[in-house]
Amino acid sequence: MAFLGRSNVGKSSLINSLLGSREAKVSSTPGRTRAINFFALHEGAGEKIKARPALIFADLPGYGYAKISKSISAEWPKFIEPYLAERETLALCVCLVDTNIPPQENDTQLITYLKQTQRPFLVVGTKADKLSNNQLGKSVAALKTAHKVDEVLTVSAEKSTGVGKLWQRIYEVGEI
Ligand code: GTP
Ligand code: MG
Repeated sequence: MAFLGRSNVGKSSLINSLLGSREAKVSSTPGRTRAINFFALHEGAGEKIKARPALIFADLPGYGYAKISKSISAEWPKFIEPYLAERETLALCVCLVDTNIPPQENDTQLITYLKQTQRPFLVVGTKADKLSNNQLGKSVAALKTAHKVDEVLTVSAEKSTGVGKLWQRIYEVGEI
């Protein structure tokens, strides 16, 4: 399961919320995650760990943050696109978009790319706790229109809302 999105959108925070841990580094400084960090989840707590993990979360570096150097930004497609195109075991791309800002062109680009590669993906709206229900509804409608998707699942890593629903989707595609 790959977690993708702009820098600072909340990828690492959401992974922590899903895992109920603080394994993934969270930072208020955008551009903190600069490598693909893998989190392996093994079946059967307390049992002997099987060699093959049941599920792997991949925390990917964020894109689109203007203040990081051009050379680092330029690495993103070189580094990530082959991963998205070639990784055979990639069951789902979780595309995170911030519900607190208008739809972003670079998010549309990523989602369009994933549609072309025919990779299963899911768009998840982050930081839902920052908005009223009314504002959130409007934001989700705008995101659906701009990114041409039927569904945007909303979550808050801060309040752990929507996380159960996201787990459900992960279970469904991961067949675990
Ligand atoms: P990079 O690694 O730089 O690409 O960022 P990231 O997408 O991993 O974001 P990260 O999880 O580090 O969070 C960025 C900032 O957003 C931090 O200050 C978090 O505390 C904040 N944040 C993340 N999720 C939420 C949320 O659900 N609600 C609120 N209010 N803040 C959040
Ligand atoms: Mg991160």
